[in-house]
Amino acid sequence: MPESGTRAGIIGMGSYVPERVLTNRELEAMVNTTDQWIVERSGIRERRIAAPGQATSDLALEAARKALEDAGIGPEEVDLIIVATNTPDSLLPAVACIVQDNLGTPRAGAFDLLAGCTGFIYSLSVAAQFVRVGMYRHVLVVGAETLSRILDWEDRNTCVLFGDGAGAAVVGPVPEGYGLIHTKLGSDGSGGPLLYIPAGGSRIPPSRETVEGRLHFVRMNGREVFRFAVRACGDGSLEALEEAGLSVDDVDFLVPHQANIRIIEAAARRLNLSMDRVLVNVDRYGNTSTASIPMALEEAVNQERIRDGDNIVMAGFGAGLTWAVAIMRWYNYRKKSG
Ligand code: UT7
Repeated sequence: MPESGTRAGIIGMGSYVPERVLTNRELEAMVNTTDQWIVERSGIRERRIAAPGQATSDLALEAARKALEDAGIGPEEVDLIIVATNTPDSLLPAVACIVQDNLGTPRAGAFDLLAGCTGFIYSLSVAAQFVRVGMYRHVLVVGAETLSRILDWEDRNTCVLFGDGAGAAVVGPVPEGYGLIHTKLGSDGSGGPLLYIPAGGSRIPPSRETVEGRLHFVRMNGREVFRFAVRACGDGSLEALEEAGLSVDDVDFLVPHQANIRIIEAAARRLNLSMDRVLVNVDRYGNTSTASIPMALEEAVNQERIRDGDNIVMAGFGAGLTWAVAIMRWYNYRKKSG
């Protein structure tokens, strides 16, 4: 067990995307849209779609296995599993419990965290508290989604934007001077109706009418969410930096939630960062919600773009409405352990 006051950081990462690629051209045959509209308005060129029978926990498991291997720890060393998702296998049980069973982590607690697309940063923040107070040593955090299952494939406003995928991180002790420096979590519940699924919960339980009314699919006011997102990513990051006693000059990389390249570029401008300092994968995977930030981060770590001691700002927003920023000084666990 680590001591109270321990620094918490990422010490292992993994990701997984389904094999099936759905291109904009294919979408042209499904709804009234064009490749040009999708690329110009969102920056998305293609996305992945889970195979029939492949559920969120299956994607989460693949990413989790890689993250444990990357961290060099076995399943018996995992103390807690947090899965951030908006698309659980079913309403009950939690995806984290299914992952716990399939991963074979005998002594891990497990729960899901629902905070829209911001779920990964929220979970990272929660995980870090357990490590900091000395209660747990290794917390597995997974962002995993099969959004293709809750999309209305007749609604061009939403179906072109999202994709399936999973990203995982092991949060554990890191040396002094590294790890999570600051997290800022925000919400504005009055914006709930801007991005929601009308039926299937306790307010409107499932019925023949709800299915016929297509009420189990995502509905979104894209324009309003866009406004909120630009504010949350830009101003939110500036506020978090100030609270952490850092300035925009201290930022080495921005890892924004991957919803739309225009939102990402607006956030980069606000932080005065050139785009080579911003991690982007929205072109290849679309919006994978809770998986987008860990997937983008893992890719950059694999490419050795991120160096030891780099200051990373993760900024997310999503249904709720929620938003969050995490500032982390990167600990190059791969180099140190190799
Ligand atoms: O993780 C958080 C989840 N969501 C988001 O982050 C989404 C944030 N919002 C966005 O990314 C953008 O608002 C969108 C990409 C959804 C839309 O871009 P926009 O520049 O805000 O477009 P708009 O809402 O102003 O719509 C422009 C037009 C509309 O037509 P009218 O009403 O002006 O005639 C839409 O009906 O584009 C139409 N449209 C489409 N046209 C072709 C909407 N979807 C499509 C489509 N293909 N797929």
